[in-house]
Amino acid sequence: MKSIYIETYGCQMNVADSELMLGVLARDGYVRAATPDDADVMLVNTCAVRENAEQRVIGRMGELQRHKRAGSILGVVGCMAQRLGPILLERVPAVDLVVGPDGYRNLPELLAHARAGERRAEVEYRSWEHYEDIPQLREPGPTAFVTVQRGCDYRCTFCIVPTTRGPERSRQLHDVVGEIAALVHTGISEVTLLGQTVNSYHDGSHGFGDLLRAVGAVDGVRRIRFTSPYPTDFTPEVIEAMATTPAVCEHVHLPVQSGSNSVLKRMLRRYTRERYLEVLEQLRTAMPSITVSTDIIAGFPGETEAEFAETVSLVTDAAFDDAYTFKYSVREGTPAERLKGHVADDVASERLARLIAVVRAQTRRHNMRRVGEVHEALIERPAKRGDLMLARTRQNYLVLVDVPASAVGEYRMVRFTGTTGSTFTGSIEHPALAVL
Ligand code: 5AD
Repeated sequence: MKSIYIETYGCQMNVADSELMLGVLARDGYVRAATPDDADVMLVNTCAVRENAEQRVIGRMGELQRHKRAGSILGVVGCMAQRLGPILLERVPAVDLVVGPDGYRNLPELLAHARAGERRAEVEYRSWEHYEDIPQLREPGPTAFVTVQRGCDYRCTFCIVPTTRGPERSRQLHDVVGEIAALVHTGISEVTLLGQTVNSYHDGSHGFGDLLRAVGAVDGVRRIRFTSPYPTDFTPEVIEAMATTPAVCEHVHLPVQSGSNSVLKRMLRRYTRERYLEVLEQLRTAMPSITVSTDIIAGFPGETEAEFAETVSLVTDAAFDDAYTFKYSVREGTPAERLKGHVADDVASERLARLIAVVRAQTRRHNMRRVGEVHEALIERPAKRGDLMLARTRQNYLVLVDVPASAVGEYRMVRFTGTTGSTFTGSIEHPALAVL
């Protein structure tokens, strides 16, 4: 029997794609290896969104090649594979195979070629590819990532994804619903719908609102999340579907990227600061307990101190509950590469540090106020340290609770007893006590 070891970097779609590759290879008789040591095939599923993501992978490949032995294969897959293609084969002699996100169906043949000593880069776009017939081999657990849309047709000037993942395409609604109905039978009660601009989902006859309603109607689906939406694709229809579908969780991750209108324009984001705030207002009116997280880039080309100050003030004005912050990283071939006024690295780093401080302080303040509240939490998995279990609330708060490992997949009412500033500790609220 052949064995496959896979390591995943980057976004949730990469996690889902790795499960897909395991599915493709399971069909071909492979079993999963937990470590690279004895694996016949090692795959590294990569991210290309920022330079440091790629550096990490290069470093890791240096380590993985030491696990290679006669006949074993090291492959690079994912967005960095698509971006660099044959260049990766030239630069890293230990790499036997390079496959982009539309080529996973052909992994068995590609591996056979690699085994015969032919080093290949498979980076063709296949804009029809949904892997509809391939059953993913998912991590066991109560939650599942379900890709509903691949690729991206937006042209944000900083972003490499349109190049690495090709044109936007949506799966048919009935295929998504069918998949999720089957997942429920395996013990899954929470799904996260994935797409680059997931709320622009359209299958020709159904939009994202229809999809939310249809998934919400699947017996056994208790929670729906989705990532990442695009601000202006939150049409009134989509917001209405969110508010009236009980399974849709009260949390949205809505990347804003900048709080400055001139920067947003250079980024080719299709909204202003005011329009973004209006969308948040509509979401909060429809779902009053919704929490909001975001992505922000500091040091985009041409960003002045005054423009950066507008981003800092947006953190407060938008009352974000959390934010992922990034220093702009120039990506070869993107339109922003050619913009004037690239920000010096030390300036960008200093801005990023200031932004992180503001975000952390605000998250801590928001979370401190929540101590004492009771929330429904889904027990997900053992926490990394100690014997506590990690659970997640509908508003996407993580809380550590003292329940047996056998409670994975169960929903409990949990009282927040404390916070580190980002995550919570909690105690199980017994139903009888909750009434008192
Ligand atoms: N530099 C820095 N951050 C980036 N992101 C995407 N492209 C870049 C880049 N070139 C960030 C955005 C996006 C998140 C996934 O990564 O904030 O929302």
